[in-house]
Amino acid sequence: MRVQGRSYRSVWLEGAVVRLIDQRLLPHQFAILDCPTSHDTAQAIVTMAVRGAGAIGAAAGFGMAQAALGAPQGSFASSIEQAARMIRSTRPTARDLFYAVECVEASIRQAPDLEAARRAAVQTAQRLADENAAAGEQIGLAGEPLLQDGANVMTQCNAGWLAFADWGSALAPIYQAQRRGKRPFVYVPETRPRGQGAKLTAWELGQEGVSHALIADTACGTFIQRGEVDCLLVGADRIAANGDVANKIGTYTLAVLADRHHVPFYVAAPRSTFDLSTPTGAAIVIEERGEEEVLWVWGRSADDTWQRVQISPAATRARNPAFDVTPAALVTAFITEAGLIPPRPDAIEAFVRRETALPSA
Ligand code: MRU
Repeated sequence: MRVQGRSYRSVWLEGAVVRLIDQRLLPHQFAILDCPTSHDTAQAIVTMAVRGAGAIGAAAGFGMAQAALGAPQGSFASSIEQAARMIRSTRPTARDLFYAVECVEASIRQAPDLEAARRAAVQTAQRLADENAAAGEQIGLAGEPLLQDGANVMTQCNAGWLAFADWGSALAPIYQAQRRGKRPFVYVPETRPRGQGAKLTAWELGQEGVSHALIADTACGTFIQRGEVDCLLVGADRIAANGDVANKIGTYTLAVLADRHHVPFYVAAPRSTFDLSTPTGAAIVIEERGEEEVLWVWGRSADDTWQRVQISPAATRARNPAFDVTPAALVTAFITEAGLIPPRPDAIEAFVRRETALPSA
């Protein structure tokens, strides 16, 4: 990704310091947050300074590498175990985070000695981040042919480069189409309560020069019903073995609308988001976040100061599930780094197990 003419990843490791774009400040301020320890990196995930399935996966891998670098010789194994527990407890839904912790732990276990273990942890974390960025680029190439010249696309949340190490999932085909001069147009739902659409996707698309309109979440149905949306393109936080998809809250609503109006509904995700050990969406743990995210909003005021304001009666209570589950039956196809995959268990298993001959859609 390029920001103000400079290339960035959303999160990276410099020596033993994890550095990341602080997504809490966007779109009003572009700042890099330094996380010197694995504890700081875990905190950055908890506070959503870094967010999005791929990006928290990369951060989790780097956090594990930091733990390996800093663990004392006498208590190396227990320090790694503790760090893994801490990072796993940051956020429950996105598969990539758990996948990264598992991969780094496995690389440490296989190392013959302490120094090799530290090296293996860093190399594995870096490889995972690189693979995540490369998968995003391939997803873009696989999804780009689905978009006609001037295609009108609706997305949800932010599944762009900020949500990955680079490129993104749902937005990657749009970026590839834009680079080929196809001029896509993107409907960007605000994605209440945290506003990842309004704050992050709108900013990203602006940086890439992609035409878009921010819409209230409540307006999605109207644009789909009017025939103004050619396809929906969303990301995923975890995909069960049967193809059920956990993604940002509101995704299920969009999938039902797409089905009702016969609009294709594509889910873009890399291999690391698929979870064969979760049989169906019913087994996915859905994060329930604090009610203050619903009851309060915050942003920049006209006099250029950050403000947090309450939008409901002081005594009102709220519920705040961060994700929902879209049944596989509502998914037209998965867009992956290996191409389009039909939402069928056999096709998903073949893809995840890296079989070369994929069942046809
Ligand atoms: O709660 P967030 O902002 O971390 O939500 C995750 C997401 O960004 C989305 O659900 C997204 O579509 C999948 S991430 C590529």
